[in-house]
Amino acid sequence: MGIRLNTNYLKKFISDDEINAVKKQTETAAEMVFEKTGQGSDFLGWVDLPVNYDKDEFARIKKSAEKIQKNSEIFIAIGIGGSYLGARAVIDLLKSPLYNDLKKSTPNIYYAGNNISSTQLNNLISIIDGKDFSINVISKSGTTTEPALAFRVLRDLVEKKYGKEQAKDHIFCTTDKAKGTLKEFADKEGYETFVVPDDIGGRFSVLTAVGLLPIAVAGCDIDKLMQGAAQGKEKYSKNFDENDAFKYAALRNILYRKGKSVELMVSYEPSLVMFSEWYKQLFGESEGKDNKGIFPAAVSFTTDLHSMGQYIQDGARILFETVIDVKTPQSDFFLETDKENLDGLNFLTNQNMSIVNKKAMEGTILAHTEGNVPNIVIEADNTDEMTVGEMIYFFEMACAVSGYMLGVNPFNQPGVESYKKNMFALLGKPGYENERAELEAKLSF
Ligand code: PA5
Repeated sequence: MGIRLNTNYLKKFISDDEINAVKKQTETAAEMVFEKTGQGSDFLGWVDLPVNYDKDEFARIKKSAEKIQKNSEIFIAIGIGGSYLGARAVIDLLKSPLYNDLKKSTPNIYYAGNNISSTQLNNLISIIDGKDFSINVISKSGTTTEPALAFRVLRDLVEKKYGKEQAKDHIFCTTDKAKGTLKEFADKEGYETFVVPDDIGGRFSVLTAVGLLPIAVAGCDIDKLMQGAAQGKEKYSKNFDENDAFKYAALRNILYRKGKSVELMVSYEPSLVMFSEWYKQLFGESEGKDNKGIFPAAVSFTTDLHSMGQYIQDGARILFETVIDVKTPQSDFFLETDKENLDGLNFLTNQNMSIVNKKAMEGTILAHTEGNVPNIVIEADNTDEMTVGEMIYFFEMACAVSGYMLGVNPFNQPGVESYKKNMFALLGKPGYENERAELEAKLSF
């Protein structure tokens, strides 16, 4: 059980010779990951994480999740980027995007601090009104504006509801082990803290406390998730010929050189939409630098076939698609035949709905490849904890190798600072006085 690469639909676009030609380069890039000889090698803690994680902290995560499940109707994960997307992706995938509306014994989960929308914050405040709730602020730096602001507001509500002492049972902080404003604050207030390891960047941190606490609160089996990732570590440490993560990195690289500068992550299950958001950050932040990189985008089919389908079939030929083909959905639905057949839909019936979805996928792949959009397929046996753990590791490894093949440092994100600098200057943060005048002059049209 797990995932595997299906390259059957690529034959018209990439020859075996082309793959052989990049094999050596892929192996060299992989060596940089395993030997820690490439740029950003201080951030390779995720490579061994599935077998080398803090077991005491892991037990504390499970204990805190149980406590939250008992004392809270609502749990709010406060974080942005790598401190948000992984948890949400896994919860949607293992549970459901409709998780909050399903009958269950675990708390509803909401996300805050991933935007600066006052409307969104006000709506969340009204949702938690009169409810028992807990918050988990997640920020490696401890200084990111969006989560820091949301934490200030929501912490205040926790303290007003429970009082300062009891608030400690409802406030959890995930941050650096020793430094940063959030760590100092949490220690001073006596909040339970969890660690974002020094050697793991935000977008590679889903299998640390960053993702694991929210995922465990949702009632997912985090032991199995780590086992799945460990299975991934074993599979994706093998040599090129047996390693689908390396092959996927190689195929992306070949397609990029052929002018395919946009990758569309395609899913046929709505539960994969947030996983695609996680993928977008992973590859976008890792590869998009030095004026290079495949632009990672995502579509959810068949929904987006009715909005983006025209462009994909017929627009600029800069696209390739990577389709996640889930072989067995979490649940199926048997379509009964209707005696009268007034809607003419009996040709779809007397079978499971997943077959209809599968035929839509096959028909779409054939149409899009016919329209000269190369399709890579990643087959997933299912979407259980083991498979999802493996899939996370697969994409992380492929991303690191792909980044090194491109000749960039896959583990930094210098470009993210530019907007922050401007925002701070425009808001009058001390120390940004000169920039402020300059930017305001640019804005006075
Ligand atoms: O991957 C990254 O490094 C970023 O997306 C960060 O995770 C994001 O900016 C949030 O940073 P922090 O966890 O420090 O608040």
